Amino acid sequence: MPLAADLILHHAHPLVTLRGAPGPRAGRAMSEPAAIPDGAVAIKRGRILAVGAGRAVLREFRAPKKVDAEGRLVTPGLVDAHTHLVFAGSRENEFEMRIRGASYMDIAKTGGGILSTVDRVRATPLDTLVRETRLRVRQMLRHGTTTAEAKSGYGLSTEHEIKCLEAVARVARAEDIDLVPTFMGAHEVPREFAGRRPDYVDAVIRDMIPAVGARRLARFCDVFCEVGVFSVEESRRILLAARRAGMAPKLHAEEFKASGGAELAAEIGAVSCDHLMAVTDRGIRALKAKGVIAVLLPATSFFLASSRFAPARRFIEEGVPVALGTDYNPGSSPTFNMQLVMTLACTQLRMTPAEALCAATLNAAYAVGEGDAAGSIEPGKRADLIVWDAPDVNYLPYAFGANLARTVIKAGKVV
Ligand code: NIG
Ligand code: FE
Repeated sequence: MPLAADLILHHAHPLVTLRGAPGPRAGRAMSEPAAIPDGAVAIKRGRILAVGAGRAVLREFRAPKKVDAEGRLVTPGLVDAHTHLVFAGSRENEFEMRIRGASYMDIAKTGGGILSTVDRVRATPLDTLVRETRLRVRQMLRHGTTTAEAKSGYGLSTEHEIKCLEAVARVARAEDIDLVPTFMGAHEVPREFAGRRPDYVDAVIRDMIPAVGARRLARFCDVFCEVGVFSVEESRRILLAARRAGMAPKLHAEEFKASGGAELAAEIGAVSCDHLMAVTDRGIRALKAKGVIAVLLPATSFFLASSRFAPARRFIEEGVPVALGTDYNPGSSPTFNMQLVMTLACTQLRMTPAEALCAATLNAAYAVGEGDAAGSIEPGKRADLIVWDAPDVNYLPYAFGANLARTVIKAGKVV
């Protein structure tokens, strides 16, 4: 008597599961996709019930609905480990300035940059933010992203940071995507605190963190730990206060200059340390010693027209798990497209297609605290799956520029 499922996805060739021992992958294990030729997946109540050879799954299970992958590549849904999803307006004016030679920090100093987006976000009502963010999320889903981290950080006051995190919660309820909210009040010093950075750090710790913590609006707290932004000492104080309020630490660090942010991430047991273009050998060793995941954002280097990319090969050789994200934001990476990020990971970071896929699924899921629920095709996990217009994993980052996602299944539902 076959068992009842809600949906069976079959003739996945190959079915790339990334199944294996729990935990993020490091080193050579990043290149083990655990592929099944002509595989199938049985799904019930949004979860994966069984995974295996097509014939066996079709014999054991019956379902009212079937999706035929017609011999195409199937992978876990993509996980975007780093986004600044809630923003308003766009900054194409800075794009030309940068092409003409201005640096990211030059633009920030002339009143552009993060603070110009803060002005726009503060002037935008919650409903409008929700509407615009929902449009972004739909584009992400269409391109295969089924789980994403989403930071605040363009409000920079208790009222507006809470507004942004409420927008994340509302979008997550309304759309077929899992969003992991991160509080990032320490993204920049707002204008009203200009020249008084220590006072702003106090305000983040005294006012914003307790308010966000009490409303349970964020799972993580992130800080832009960078020379000229927040120091290692300030970042430590903020992240320890956030942890007391129930938010796990994450860091933007070593993006432009090495400041010891990677060492801080290791010291406080951050789940991830992100950017890392300027990381030192000492920083890499510290991340490795504490199992911190390196979240690399090659679309940011690419878009900032920088020749400096994070040393992904070094991380992989040293055994630091690598994850990928878009860094989706209006200033340094206006893309939602994890397929493009995988291509850049291969061409600019010299990751192999198999490593890039692991970094964009399983390791990204662990980087956002969702490793038990997403990132691989295994019984018990959410049924987040993509049927690609691609014959194999290598084709995905190779055929860049077009959307190769053919069918996106989120929690057992074809979206
Ligand atoms: O991750 N580095 C800091 N924050 C963003 C950029 C935000 C912006 O420019 O608006 C980033 O690249
Ligand atoms: Fe970022």
